[in-house]
Amino acid sequence: MATLKWMFLLLVLYPTDIIALNYDKEIDINLKEKSEDGLGDFIESPKKQNWTRCGDNMCQCKGYQALCLNNGHQLTYIPRFEQNITQLNFTGNYLPFIDNETFTNVTEFQLKILVLRNSSIQNCTRNAFNVLKFLRFLLIRYNTISSNELMDCLSGITKYLNHIFLEFIHLDKPWDLDLDNSMTDSKISNLHLQSIEIPHYNQSKLSTLKHLKNIEIFNSSLRMVTCDFSSTLKSLHLNSNQLFELPTFCVNDKAYFPHLNYLRLDHNNIQSIKPELLACMKFLKQFYIDNNRIILIESNTFSNLPKLLLVSISYNGPDMALQEFAFNSSSLKKLYLYDDDIYFVNGQKHVNEDAFKYCTQLEVLIVSSNHFRFTTSQMFEGIFSTLRNLRILSLAHGELKVLPSSIPKYLEKLEKLLLGRNNIINIKEGYFNNLKSLKNIEINSNKITTVKPNTFSLQFLKQVKGIDLSNNPFSCSCELLWFINFLKTSPIRKRFIRFPKEYICGSPTVYDGKQLLQVRLSEHTCAITYQARLIIISVSAGIFLLVLTISVVYRYRWYLRYILYMARFQHVRYQRLLNGGENYNHDVYLSSCDADFDDVIYNDLVPRLEEDMGLRLYIPQRDGQGNMIDQIISNMDASRKVMLFISDKYVEDGYCEFEASFAYNKYINEKRDLMIVVVFNELGILNVTKTIHKILAVDNYIKWGWDEESVELFWLKITTAINNMDDLIP
Ligand SMILES: *[C@@H]1O[C@H](CO)[C@@H](O)[C@H](O)[C@H]1NC(C)=O
Ligand SMILES: *[C@@H]1O[C@H](CO)[C@@H](O)[C@H](O)[C@H]1NC(C)=O
Ligand SMILES: *[C@@H]1O[C@H](CO)[C@@H](O)[C@H](O)[C@H]1NC(C)=O
Ligand SMILES: *[C@@H]1O[C@H](CO)[C@@H](O)[C@H](O)[C@H]1NC(C)=O
Ligand SMILES: *[C@@H]1O[C@H](CO)[C@@H](O)[C@H](O)[C@H]1NC(C)=O
Ligand SMILES: *[C@@H]1O[C@H](CO)[C@@H](O)[C@H](O)[C@H]1NC(C)=O
Ligand SMILES: *[C@@H]1O[C@H](CO)[C@@H](O)[C@H](O)[C@H]1NC(C)=O
Ligand SMILES: *[C@@H]1O[C@H](CO)[C@@H](O)[C@H](O)[C@H]1NC(C)=O
Ligand SMILES: *[C@@H]1O[C@H](CO)[C@@H](O)[C@H](O)[C@H]1NC(C)=O
Ligand SMILES: *[C@@H]1O[C@H](CO)[C@@H](O)[C@H](O)[C@H]1NC(C)=O
Repeated sequence: MATLKWMFLLLVLYPTDIIALNYDKEIDINLKEKSEDGLGDFIESPKKQNWTRCGDNMCQCKGYQALCLNNGHQLTYIPRFEQNITQLNFTGNYLPFIDNETFTNVTEFQLKILVLRNSSIQNCTRNAFNVLKFLRFLLIRYNTISSNELMDCLSGITKYLNHIFLEFIHLDKPWDLDLDNSMTDSKISNLHLQSIEIPHYNQSKLSTLKHLKNIEIFNSSLRMVTCDFSSTLKSLHLNSNQLFELPTFCVNDKAYFPHLNYLRLDHNNIQSIKPELLACMKFLKQFYIDNNRIILIESNTFSNLPKLLLVSISYNGPDMALQEFAFNSSSLKKLYLYDDDIYFVNGQKHVNEDAFKYCTQLEVLIVSSNHFRFTTSQMFEGIFSTLRNLRILSLAHGELKVLPSSIPKYLEKLEKLLLGRNNIINIKEGYFNNLKSLKNIEINSNKITTVKPNTFSLQFLKQVKGIDLSNNPFSCSCELLWFINFLKTSPIRKRFIRFPKEYICGSPTVYDGKQLLQVRLSEHTCAITYQARLIIISVSAGIFLLVLTISVVYRYRWYLRYILYMARFQHVRYQRLLNGGENYNHDVYLSSCDADFDDVIYNDLVPRLEEDMGLRLYIPQRDGQGNMIDQIISNMDASRKVMLFISDKYVEDGYCEFEASFAYNKYINEKRDLMIVVVFNELGILNVTKTIHKILAVDNYIKWGWDEESVELFWLKITTAINNMDDLIP
């Protein structure tokens, strides 16, 4: 149940991608480039001024900006503005028909930026934008127009325009993007087309756009790309289309776009990247081909691209394989290979151990969301031993169980190590000691239960900027107390990311789900626990001793009882012995406890002794009554002889044992040879108690035998013993 809750938490907290590390930065660079061309003015606005009503009260103005938003059918023209504006955002109004007079009211200004969003544009005449002589940036979005009308519209595009954004334009038929006739002599450098159906992009049909630097055709069902020479083109984005193969950028090793340095082909259906298809792009710096269906990176795919800095081949696969020297490159610094379903195991269909060899400049390697479950330390060794310049490494979400020892061994320049969402159980003490440049570590959402004082050295804790150990199932026992206290008191705790909210106990049950900070484990409680442990130890020792004593007492209970009774009855007995003197009531006290020999005793022995020899027998089982112990003592005192019939069962019986020890003690105390010992059978070794042993040592006991000879011998000895009146021990 707790595990389920845990997993749910993880899912909520970590949707698939937290790895977009430095990824945004790359895009930032690109945007900055764009703003150099005039977008910057638009983004910046005077901050001190307030928005004021303007444009027939249907717009708002501030500085050079005018916003005419969502007036619907109430605003069907471009109104007059009192102040000098250069930027107009005309969104959510009604402007179905645009011609050479539509912008009359703003021609007096130097309008640079015009946004025509969602304003029901349907018709647009040739040269409609002619009057906007200063226009730099034009965005037309959410409109429905015929492709002919759109062409007419664009044909009037002014000389100065350099950014054109056409987005979500619903055309009557797929657009063939033939701008040659309409946009002659244009200075457009950025062409951004989004969500307009353009099945075929033919670069030749844009040949008049001599200044094109960035082309983006996004989400436009692009299936085919025909390139033509352009020395100006720097970046090409063809994301989210339906390309099945890499466009032909090279012919006979000559590049169509010799200065292209940024190429994105994300979210297509491309299945392979052949080295020869890229080899001509000597200026390519960044190459993205995420979310395609690439399953193999061949040897030397990028080795001919001397300026290459970044390659991103993420969300590809399934089962992507990497050949030897796949990333051979003298320049590559960043490599993103996340979520490619790569199994990092040796083999043709998986990863060659030398896949990352000759990629010595690599500084960032993101291979998160792949499979490291079966990766041997030898393979890690093979990979990391060649990547000694790595600064950032992510093996997050990779089913990793053990921290590879080759990381601290080779990656001395590492600054950021991302290992979140794995199954790491333990961080070896001193693991990070060798990583002197390490600043950020993420080991969140693993299976770490404890942090030992030597896991991170103090030196190391001072050096790092952030450690994320959140969402591990900490075992909040006394062993973790130092860490809890450390987090509570040390200023270094600020370096622990997501502390305290997501540092939660996974065990023991009392603390399950509690924040580490809320755990009430004090030195005191732990000391008490120590005392408790002591107490437990001593109590168990006590119990052990008690049990021992009890068993000893039990073992010798009859002997002890005897001592007790003797102490109590000593005086009475003494009197009795004085008075009774030699006048015994019984001749023989018969002690026998083994039913197996009852017939021998009652059929043979008793009649013979009583009837034939006229002896007065006392048999407790027959003649006794009342308190047994009392009876034993008084009757044995009143007997001249005691006959002990010893067998295994005799020894096991408590009363008989008492009789035996009592007889033995009489023998010792009264110095009287009163015992006649008969052994019925050989005793089991365990049954030879101390008393029995002593008794057997005292006397020449008589052995019982079943054969005639033995029986005769037995009787001979019995009669001799009984008739021996001279009791006194010599
Ligand atoms: C902007 O409005 C605030 C109140 O909303 C006012 O205090 C401030 O003076 C105004 N600034 C200008 C430049 O008009
Ligand atoms: C110019 O603005 C005025 C008032 O704002 C408006 O009546 C007129 O129709 C506008 N002219 C055009 C050509 O849209
Ligand atoms: C409007 O502002 C621009 C610069 O922002 C300036 O060049 C131009 O002269 C101004 N026009 C008028 C009519 O004030
Ligand atoms: C124009 O205004 C709309 C509505 O406020 C806004 O969403 C859009 O971002 C603006 N356009 C530009 C280019 O800023
Ligand atoms: C376009 O504008 C109309 C009217 O202002 C509005 O109802 C609609 O939601 C807008 N559509 C989009 C996609 O902005
Ligand atoms: C607009 O174009 C029409 C013919 O195409 C012409 O008659 C008219 O004078 C033009 N208007 C302006 C303001 O240029
Ligand atoms: C506007 O465009 C439609 C086609 O989208 C066309 O049928 C219509 O004639 C055009 N209207 C004008 C006035 O040009
Ligand atoms: C992609 O285009 C389709 C239709 O052309 C549209 O419905 C969808 O919203 C677009 N998606 C994005 C992310 O632009
Ligand atoms: C691309 O456009 C040029 C010029 O219009 C044309 O000659 C060529 O045949 C077109 N290529 C394809 C593949 O359509
Ligand atoms: C790595 O690439 C370079 C440049 O293309 C090439 O000369 C070299 O042979 C390649 N190394 C291997 C081992 O293939």
